[in-house]
Amino acid sequence: MILQEIIYKIESFAPLAMACDGDNPGLMFGKKDKEISKVLVALDVDLGVIREAKEKDADLILTHHPLMFDPIRQINETTPAGRCLLELADGNIALYSAHTNLDSAKGGLNDIFAEKLGILGTKPIEVTYTDENGISYGIGRVGTIEEEMTLTEFAAFVCKKFGLPSTNFVGDGNAKVKTVAVCSGSGGSLLSEVSADVYVTGDIKYSNARNAADSGQNLVIAGHYETEICAMEVFKEILSDLPLEVIFSEANKNVFNYTEG
Ligand code: FE2
Repeated sequence: MILQEIIYKIESFAPLAMACDGDNPGLMFGKKDKEISKVLVALDVDLGVIREAKEKDADLILTHHPLMFDPIRQINETTPAGRCLLELADGNIALYSAHTNLDSAKGGLNDIFAEKLGILGTKPIEVTYTDENGISYGIGRVGTIEEEMTLTEFAAFVCKKFGLPSTNFVGDGNAKVKTVAVCSGSGGSLLSEVSADVYVTGDIKYSNARNAADSGQNLVIAGHYETEICAMEVFKEILSDLPLEVIFSEANKNVFNYTEG
């Protein structure tokens, strides 16, 4: 099938209009009329993932994180994006990314995040899109958990849910947690809009954490990779009824390692 049909399927699930301002989702590289039979799905794209696609004869790489955010003036081997674009061209491999539009979509990354923590009655923290029926979509989710717990207990619960050996949290460990806000990936930009007993996000700048502490906001950090790796399953599900072979990247791993002690 041609790439345009795959793009239509992805954007029916996660319309580009749901993306945040300044984001750059969409077709990063390639022609829309390219014939596609095998898709390699990854969280990020780098040379290792592109070489894996070449080895496995994939025609398209599908990622959550876009390769480029800023305009590129030269495509050569001196930048990571330039090296990737040259490698994609060499292998005649297309690259498509669905980023904050996939975070916002119904059944997208933020819904999965909220569901994983048992958050009920969710609504977006920041609305990015309202459809013709007046239904709002957007970044982050806020709602309530069934049973109140302390911040320390809740942080431990987040660790367990995301398979983390430990985590950072901000706030008084004895504080009561009932309303919970979440944002997959880097959620620092939403801090001022969050109104909940605790805000859980993938990662955050130290200065944001300091401001949150000074404002009496409780935070739990759940890992950027850990909160977004579910994108692979979401992509697979979106493409499930198309005549395509969809494989998960083995080269794309968490850039952060954990050590003991
Ligand atoms: Fe991310």
